[in-house]
Amino acid sequence: MGQTLAFDIYGTLIDTQRIAATLEGWIGELAPVLARAWREKQLEYTFRRGLMGAYADFDACTEQALRYCCQMQGVTLSAGQEAELLERYRQLPAFTDAAPALDGLRADGHRLFAFSNGTAETVGGLLRHAGLEDRFEDIVSVDEIGCFKPDPRVYQHFLQRAGSKPQQTSLISGNPFDVIGAQAVGMRTVWLDRTGRGLFDPWGDKPTATIRGLKELAGILG
Ligand code: LAC
Repeated sequence: MGQTLAFDIYGTLIDTQRIAATLEGWIGELAPVLARAWREKQLEYTFRRGLMGAYADFDACTEQALRYCCQMQGVTLSAGQEAELLERYRQLPAFTDAAPALDGLRADGHRLFAFSNGTAETVGGLLRHAGLEDRFEDIVSVDEIGCFKPDPRVYQHFLQRAGSKPQQTSLISGNPFDVIGAQAVGMRTVWLDRTGRGLFDPWGDKPTATIRGLKELAGILG
């Protein structure tokens, strides 16, 4: 029977680290370091804003994290470079296994949703640019309720929006904090461990399944 599938976007279908290619021409070897720090700080800002109850949307977290990380790394970007970088962040490419996997899962009768910290507008643009937009029944954004993953309310919101029961719903995410968050409300979870290092928070909970690439999904979901 078809399941409801909630796909995380950044780091799962969309490759955030590819922003380093834009940075490389400007800062050389520091590019992957800055790209990684930027992603970590962006998520830290979502966690902190969540704890403080001081929501600002994901685009704001992304922009503010970039400024912080540039200063931390001693990198000065012109206003034009910063604007270009943020624009490129809205046009990040998909991992190459995303489109064929999504097509196969749809053909198998699963319901596919994009489920992200990003706003519906930004995620919509991202998916369009990456050529993935027509695969999803809908985009569910945390922005609709003004809090971030892994707040239990965002997973409950997803279930409500999709009209799906937790045990018939799988979150597919490359982010362990997201997997643990979804498990906490009783959803099934698939952790996408692209590096194969098995680096998962040792909190006791294990994902329902772990995969190395999206093409393995069809086999485990049936
Ligand atoms: C997202 C973040 C968690 O897309 O990567 O929701």
